Amino acid sequence: MRLTRVPGLLFGGDYNPEQWPEEVWAEDVRLMAEAGVTMATVAVFSWSRLEPAPGAYDFGWLDRVLDLLHEHGVSADLATATATPPPWLVRRHPEVMPVDAQGVRLEFGSRQGYCPSSPIFREHAVRLATAIATRYAEHPALAMWHVGNEYADHTLECFCPESARHFRAWLQTRYGTVGALNTAWGTSCWGQHYTGFEQIEPPRKAPGPVNPAQLLDWRRFCSDALLELFTAERDALRQVTPAVPVTTNFMSILHGLDYWSWAAAEDLVSDDAYPDPADPESHVAVALSYDLMRSLKQRPWLLLESAPSAVSWREVNVPKPPGMMRLHSLQAVAHGADGVMFFQWRQAKYGPEKFHSALLPHGGTETRGWQDTLRLGADLRRLAEVAGTGTRAEVALVLDWDSWWGLEAPESMPSNRLKLKDLLLAWYAPLHARGISVDLAPPDRDLSAYRVVIAPNLYLCTAEQAKSLASVTGELVVGPFSGVVDESDQVHDGGAPGPLRDLLGVAIDEFWPLPDGSTQRVRHDGGDAGLARTWVEWPRVVGDAVEVLARYEGGDLDGLPAITRNGNATYVSCLLDDVTPVLDRVLHAVPAIDVPPGVEATRRENHLFLLNHTGTPQQVALPHPGRDLLTDTDLRGVISLAPRDAVVLRIEGDT
Ligand code: GAL
Repeated sequence: MRLTRVPGLLFGGDYNPEQWPEEVWAEDVRLMAEAGVTMATVAVFSWSRLEPAPGAYDFGWLDRVLDLLHEHGVSADLATATATPPPWLVRRHPEVMPVDAQGVRLEFGSRQGYCPSSPIFREHAVRLATAIATRYAEHPALAMWHVGNEYADHTLECFCPESARHFRAWLQTRYGTVGALNTAWGTSCWGQHYTGFEQIEPPRKAPGPVNPAQLLDWRRFCSDALLELFTAERDALRQVTPAVPVTTNFMSILHGLDYWSWAAAEDLVSDDAYPDPADPESHVAVALSYDLMRSLKQRPWLLLESAPSAVSWREVNVPKPPGMMRLHSLQAVAHGADGVMFFQWRQAKYGPEKFHSALLPHGGTETRGWQDTLRLGADLRRLAEVAGTGTRAEVALVLDWDSWWGLEAPESMPSNRLKLKDLLLAWYAPLHARGISVDLAPPDRDLSAYRVVIAPNLYLCTAEQAKSLASVTGELVVGPFSGVVDESDQVHDGGAPGPLRDLLGVAIDEFWPLPDGSTQRVRHDGGDAGLARTWVEWPRVVGDAVEVLARYEGGDLDGLPAITRNGNATYVSCLLDDVTPVLDRVLHAVPAIDVPPGVEATRRENHLFLLNHTGTPQQVALPHPGRDLLTDTDLRGVISLAPRDAVVLRIEGDT
């Protein structure tokens, strides 16, 4: 899918010309051309300017913007402009604004405030999307459609009567009868038996803990309700411009939306990523989210927003030190991005984001920021041949949103300390440190091509998902508190690990969450000692051929199996401080790359990216000789990577 006239990686950012007098636009496009910008995201928040009165469109200014962009070689990621409803719509129909869990309707004056289930909002949004598509269908700058903005940011859920109606209809489709819903929700507990769908409400603030099965369905519904809204706009666009790809910008690994189903509904995955420069480990977590983006469609994706330096929405907005903007951009490319874009092109003069960094800072072209922009544009051009290339990952991490929602339900779990992102990272970080490419995968995808499949946690696991895990032919590793409940959050008969019991050869007698700060010693069969924190279990071996790879040592669980192995399936019944001993056993067939701590090595087909995330020079032994695309020089042997510098090595031959 070629999105611009320029082959190679995309480069650009959000462009908000409506915040500037028209004289500034000429300078904008001149500088975009100078920096090698190939794409601009336009009109994300422009509804009130494009339709200042109901049905009365003012496209003149956007016509001129798109013409100017096109004349300067810049393609448009054109938004449907529906991210913020205009004030006239809100005043005419106050019910388009969302209502929070306490029943308070939110006020206009920010952005992205709308009820996902409002038919009025949807009707107006679809009408605007259709009008924009019709107007610009043939415009030569149009490269792709950007629907809404960061769905679930600001508004994930709405508790208004319309949302309640929508929720009930969704439940009716899922369960058919209220009897089936009562069974699934276990309403015999705490006297919640319903006799009609009309009695069901969204989980507003209640006196005590809300039924977790209701909460799980609410999470599913909220993801689906926003997806319906997205799909309505997408369909309107496809009707007018069937050949123009449609995307919406994701928010990395987001709890609120099931991105597996969202990605299936769009043509191209795009993501917004804002790792915190103050966190020295943020490059690891962001790499995990980039790998998710690549895995969603198993294709290259687009980094649609990132920050050139500081953001404006943290408590303390730390800028990126010299080199970090370039390094973080190259990192996204290393993990499969076919372009790097930013929020935003020109730094705002007013509004909540006036201190957010931009490609063109307040200080103009004299600034260090602008020099960074020029440098990155040039670097991305040097990497043109990387565009479109894939990643071969031999390790998969399993991620399932239903399970995540179940695991992090408030108020009813053995421990509230189990957070799925942390559990994923605990496995991902050591793989990342060894330069091993990792895919993310839903449990029901065909997993047979992977040498190693790791499910850090699958609290909710259906019989079908268990079957899928059983079909793994490589190594399978399952983390603690897995196979606990079914799709209705009901504990599997016989307890955990439910449908995984035969596969793992263990049964869990009792969950044994640890108090904050305490640890449990674990002794690996090789003799090494390790520590578990936060979570351990009381397992019982039930399979004939189960090997015990580690035992708990000391305390109430002394001598009990901590890590077991049944055929190709390893079960880790605790949260280990260090999963290295487990990885060492299962990774034998997976090639690693030896790099110093803080240096990232990532392959994209025959390109090896070496990224020094540290503030000091690092010596790296190249696993292969090759040509560095960034400096156009041949490299071999041991090289010195300057602080926050990178090498992108084209490796010849089949390695
Ligand atoms: C994103 C949003 C952008 C901008 C950016 C600032 O969440 O989509 O419009 O606000 O954050 O970091």
